[in-house]
Amino acid sequence: MIFDRVKPLDAILATAEAKGLKRSLGAFQLTMLGIGAVIGTGIFVLTSEAAQKAGPGMLLSFVVAGFVCAVAALCYSELASMVPVSGSAYTYTYAVTGELLAWMVGWALILEYAVGASAVAVGWSNHFAGLLAGLGVHIPAAISNADALMAHAAVAFGAAPSTDLATAMTVGGWINIPAVLIVGLVTWLLVVGTTESARVNAVLVAIKIAALTLFVILTIPVLKSSNFDPLLPTGTAGVFGAAASIFFAYVGFDAVSTAAEETKNPQRNVPIGLIGSLGICTIFYLLVATGAIGAIGAQPVMDAGVALSPGSPELAGRCAGIVAGGAVEPLVCSKEALVHVLATIGWPGVGRLVGLAAVLALPSVVLMMMFGQTRVFFTMARDGLLPERLASIHPRFRTPHVVTVVTGIGAAVASAFLPVGKLADYSNSGTLFAFLMVAVSVMVLRRTDPGRNRPFRTPAVYIVAPLAIIGCLGLYFSLPLTAILVLPGWGAIGLLIYFFYSRSRSHVGRGVADALG
Ligand code: ALA
Repeated sequence: MIFDRVKPLDAILATAEAKGLKRSLGAFQLTMLGIGAVIGTGIFVLTSEAAQKAGPGMLLSFVVAGFVCAVAALCYSELASMVPVSGSAYTYTYAVTGELLAWMVGWALILEYAVGASAVAVGWSNHFAGLLAGLGVHIPAAISNADALMAHAAVAFGAAPSTDLATAMTVGGWINIPAVLIVGLVTWLLVVGTTESARVNAVLVAIKIAALTLFVILTIPVLKSSNFDPLLPTGTAGVFGAAASIFFAYVGFDAVSTAAEETKNPQRNVPIGLIGSLGICTIFYLLVATGAIGAIGAQPVMDAGVALSPGSPELAGRCAGIVAGGAVEPLVCSKEALVHVLATIGWPGVGRLVGLAAVLALPSVVLMMMFGQTRVFFTMARDGLLPERLASIHPRFRTPHVVTVVTGIGAAVASAFLPVGKLADYSNSGTLFAFLMVAVSVMVLRRTDPGRNRPFRTPAVYIVAPLAIIGCLGLYFSLPLTAILVLPGWGAIGLLIYFFYSRSRSHVGRGVADALG
């Protein structure tokens, strides 16, 4: 019997109580925490990728992805207010569907957080290189992206050689050094114990909101309705494909639930934080996307009637060719979407300021994601599913330095060699699985534990949770094939580790009390 090991909710709550983290966060700070974790590479960079997939129809993609996150957030809220402990989706699943699925969710959260952190690092690198270029300092392409490497890999794996690939090999790079450096810096900050203070976070949120507001103010007035025509150049499949990728822009609101253990009156404040941060970000995203499309257009670059795949070396090569030919760089080619739009409509100085805002604020998104990762690892180690040595504490800094450095190395390697869009898609595949399990858990708990106090009840749960499940499945199957395959591949590795290592060491399985509680 493999679904037998359920960790009783009361045991989870008792462990959290014993651990006794200080409850200091209120509703406003939680909302700021959520916005701080959400606004990042998604809107600043992946807007180009979404446009390449859906054209102006990406506006609908933002709505679809936002809707799936909203119904998932309503499910998260019920569980987070009921089980206000760290570990998020992993902990909920442990209480509801048992250890095996909890392990799989924890394992998938590694994709969400560690791979997500590397995607944000690459987005940061794009803006850092752009900002320096504006100051006349050019980082060689060879060490600021991996387009040439990807082109060689594509040919090695059987892609037909083409002019686009040849261009990418010539002008593209091999390794993304700035991305590695920012991951290294964040890892170091986490090891020496800098968890960002609420005040620093509030300043960075203000900077991001100011940048997006400025963007909207300058682009909406110059909006041309002709730029929305054709609205759906790649059809509805394009809209859903872009929604699956741009979903990344919304990821991070679940960080609010991982802070539940440190929240004052979590029953009230966690749902406000989750839903409030998501709502505010959705409004900004829709305005920014409308401004970007309306100002300069968002038609995909096609090859024989088919949109080239975003993040592919073929598209990188084609874009390099377009720019070399003297044409204005299309939105879909830009590595810094919002900066590029502003420069194109005659505000290059403001564009640079928006780029500076991204350079200043994106590292905190990397930090949040890597911090979330260490929290999940930590909770899994507390349950005996991962080696406790991994969660050992640095004698001087009092931080889990081993797990932080391991996470940092993984994220640095991924960000060095993979394009941002692919990393975001891989991250999404893990996140969608975790969201799906949360929606399943909320319904199962209503049945198995109906009498428990539910300070926040998901409204119309038997409609909202199934919608979240259908939405997650729909987005997952709209991802590119490689990203779809990443989840089962990663899951298979996870299962091997579970059955050969974790299962026999599990505290629940051995009937022992939590060691790190
Ligand atoms: N939502 C976060 C971002 O867009 C992860 O960077």
